[in-house]
Amino acid sequence: MTKNFKLLLLAGDGIGAEVMRETRRVIQWLGKHRGIVFEMDEDLIGGCAFDAHGHPAPHSMITKALAADAVLLGAVGGPKWAEVDYAHRPEQGLLDVRKALGLFANLRPAICFDALKGASSLKPELVSGLDILIVRELIGGIYFGEPAGIEDLGNGQRRGVNTQVYTTAEIERVARVAFDLAVKRNGRLTSVDKANVMVSGLLWREEVQKIGEADYPHVKLDHMYADNCAMQLVRAPKQFDVIVTDNLFGDLLSDAAAMLTGSLGMLPSASLGAADESGRAHALYEPVHGSAPDIAGQGKANPIAMILSFVMALRYSFDRQEEADLIDKAVRNVLSQGHRTADIADTEESPLSTTAMGDAILNEMNVLNV
Ligand code: IPM
Ligand code: MG
Repeated sequence: MTKNFKLLLLAGDGIGAEVMRETRRVIQWLGKHRGIVFEMDEDLIGGCAFDAHGHPAPHSMITKALAADAVLLGAVGGPKWAEVDYAHRPEQGLLDVRKALGLFANLRPAICFDALKGASSLKPELVSGLDILIVRELIGGIYFGEPAGIEDLGNGQRRGVNTQVYTTAEIERVARVAFDLAVKRNGRLTSVDKANVMVSGLLWREEVQKIGEADYPHVKLDHMYADNCAMQLVRAPKQFDVIVTDNLFGDLLSDAAAMLTGSLGMLPSASLGAADESGRAHALYEPVHGSAPDIAGQGKANPIAMILSFVMALRYSFDRQEEADLIDKAVRNVLSQGHRTADIADTEESPLSTTAMGDAILNEMNVLNV
């Protein structure tokens, strides 16, 4: 009996619904032309879930996410929910899902598409061919550390606290994911911390070093301070291959890395949990870009980051490399042919709509599928 893959689609807020619609067409294409049938379910997350259920990550949605082979997520948040109390803000929905699914390893590739190297804020020669991978720890560190909160000190004074905390096990599991990926790529790993200021960073550095020496002697491991890494990323980004770092530094550095590719609206990400005995791991795939409320509902959004997030699901959750390569190639070809949505178009071009970009990619998939 062939098992169908179970996908949960969480379009979320803003442009999420539009980019998810195009991705759904790509998924359906695979059923029709490649016989890979996905059982698709959908649900709400973020602001829309708060509106419907009073919570940005309702239990019923988390239950579905836990049962799925992979979750595809659009984006969360928007000005509509600016006044919502802190515990119920849309972003909390995302943090809740990450935590509930144990998604400790966040893979954020920063790839410079050849057709777009002119769009980078850096000189084309600095970014041309750029292909780095940031592995960000996603469910620990200062994002989740206790104690956390705002306390009233009296006299009109308050005290806000967050705690940066890591254990050996938390460092080890994400470091192993990064080492394994480095082995599959070019055998180089840069671990990023602030060991010169924070003891949690010192522990990070020591634990990563230990694992490298014990189990990955052939990976060339370097350590770098986070501030220097930020500087090196904008100075000479091609010196990096895989970067592993904590939750907060990973948040910052991955935005910088994404922007310097000139393709912020095009980058996907994968968040992975630990594999169980059967090899199955919880996983969530989402574009790096946000909900872009300013253009939501106008058919202007670029669906490529969402589609490439599904491509990552094909690679990491479903082991369908051939189909992943086909869709990847279709996206690259469409870009080389000059198709552009507004975010990547030159001012004189009249840009494609979200759906027209979806059409172009599906057409190219038909061409490649011979
Ligand atoms: C990201 C985002 C999130 C984060 C926000 C929306 C909670 O910036 O995925 O990088 O800080 O992790
Ligand atoms: Mg971020």
